[in-house]
Amino acid sequence: MIDLHSHILHDFDDGARTLEAAIAMAREAAAMGVTVMAATPHGRNSTNADHSRYTVALLAERLAELRAALAEEDINLELVPGTEIYGEPGVVERLKAGELLPYGESRTVLVEFPLTSPADVVEQIVFGLQVAGYRVVYAHPERMRYVQHDPNSLVPLIERGALMQLTGDALLGAQGPVMRHLAETLVTHRLVQIIASDAHGPHFGRLPNLGAARARAAELVGDAEADAMTRAVPTLILNDGPITPPPPIPIRQRFSFF
Ligand SMILES: [Fe+2]
Repeated sequence: MIDLHSHILHDFDDGARTLEAAIAMAREAAAMGVTVMAATPHGRNSTNADHSRYTVALLAERLAELRAALAEEDINLELVPGTEIYGEPGVVERLKAGELLPYGESRTVLVEFPLTSPADVVEQIVFGLQVAGYRVVYAHPERMRYVQHDPNSLVPLIERGALMQLTGDALLGAQGPVMRHLAETLVTHRLVQIIASDAHGPHFGRLPNLGAARARAAELVGDAEADAMTRAVPTLILNDGPITPPPPIPIRQRFSFF
């Protein structure tokens, strides 16, 4: 499996606090069958500029430290650099300037949005990135208020090639039964294309859990689609390959989430 969203880099953001904690997360992920993990610390943005430590140089330094430690510990987990980019005006310019990073050598970016952003604001940022030549992975759309109100609102983005990343915890019930119901609905209606852990570490209560999330997804939509969301699509993302996800099935029944 490939986990495209994690805060495994130590002493960086709100993720792993120490190198030892990062090693423990890596060991746990590798034990459940994760072979590649993207290290995606929160990028510097207008809301965290005063306290964020994010720089591309620090990211490279932490990555090198952790890779060396994993080699020493014999933990077979490949790390790919990335950034959890805060979706706001100016991100294209900052990506072009090299202040924020796509995944590895790819043209795909991981983007999160303020939870109360409306659909049109999100779409404007996503389309701006796409016009600039980036493929967009939308981090945990299940947390967005407008998506909770109407999950079908993701359809236009999916039809334009954006990829939705569900967080494993949501599917596993760690964020409560209502969120689990929403997550299951998103999976069964093909409204998400990727599952990732967004692991932060034990202090945060969010651990690498992609194996369990994949198993739950397989119960819902079968093994082939569970594999697509946790291995095949992430592989194509890292290689800039073409992705043709199954078409979304709009939700007809009126759901009331949250
Ligand atoms: Fe994250």
